[in-house]
Amino acid sequence: MRITPNNAGLGARIEGIDLAQPLGEDGFRTLLRALGRYGVLCFPGQELDAPQLSAFGSRFGELEVNVANMFHAPGHPEVMILSNMKDAAGQPIGLHDAGQGWHTDMSYSREIALANALHAKQVPMRDGRPLGDTQFRNMHAAYDDLPAEIVQRLEGRVAIHDFGKFWDVMRTRPGSIRKPLTPEQRAKKPPVPQPILRTHPITGRRVLYCNPGYAVRIEGLEPAESDAMLEYLFRHQAQAKYLYSHAWRPGDLLIWDNIGTVHNAKADYGPEEHRYILRVQAMATRDYAALAA
Ligand code: SIN
Repeated sequence: MRITPNNAGLGARIEGIDLAQPLGEDGFRTLLRALGRYGVLCFPGQELDAPQLSAFGSRFGELEVNVANMFHAPGHPEVMILSNMKDAAGQPIGLHDAGQGWHTDMSYSREIALANALHAKQVPMRDGRPLGDTQFRNMHAAYDDLPAEIVQRLEGRVAIHDFGKFWDVMRTRPGSIRKPLTPEQRAKKPPVPQPILRTHPITGRRVLYCNPGYAVRIEGLEPAESDAMLEYLFRHQAQAKYLYSHAWRPGDLLIWDNIGTVHNAKADYGPEEHRYILRVQAMATRDYAALAA
């Protein structure tokens, strides 16, 4: 296995491993450590089907079945299809607008997610260049740069994260096929508190865990103060120095740390520029410090 870090301070490319094959203990430990250290790992030239992606992802934690429960691979509700393609009857075959806005997956869930793994089968291209990058920002670095006075004010505080926030924003976008969430779907994902400053389970370092996709308010602050602080944190984490943008190639398998990064799916391609990606989300259900030791 060869690990080549990016220059961006986030991201590494890993070659010399076939992820369709089961991962041994040593291989898994190496990948877990790399995930903590680099945040985003790209394995180029992979060829996994849905069960193989599911097996790979489940090494990192229990896999989530999306609450919307649509667009999954046949027989694999935990493997979601992200795509703007349609079938012969003109029906969408995948969720076309997943993650189009800065967010952290599963921050709206009491049990948070460790990692997402996405495997690109088809990538939109224009003039020989890939479109539909997935962009990331480094929340270890964002925490390290927070002024001491802000850290002091946020120490021990929680933000409320709401699944409905992102969903409702996406529904207002032109061409959205998202239906209003049913009361049952909302009840399954009630708003939850999350510490704004938390310790990363692999690195043991602190991260800024607050994203504009789902965080709606800071508990215990007056609404105006809460709004101002959230706006400050979102502006702080949006600085260009924290950014890494992944330009996809078919065959890439990307796994990223959902606790130490925020991400955004860049919506810069049209309906005829086809993107087809399989996704699994691994919940943070293990003792990662012990597994990485
Ligand atoms: C996601 O947010 O999980 C989807 C990202 C992407 O499709 O690029």
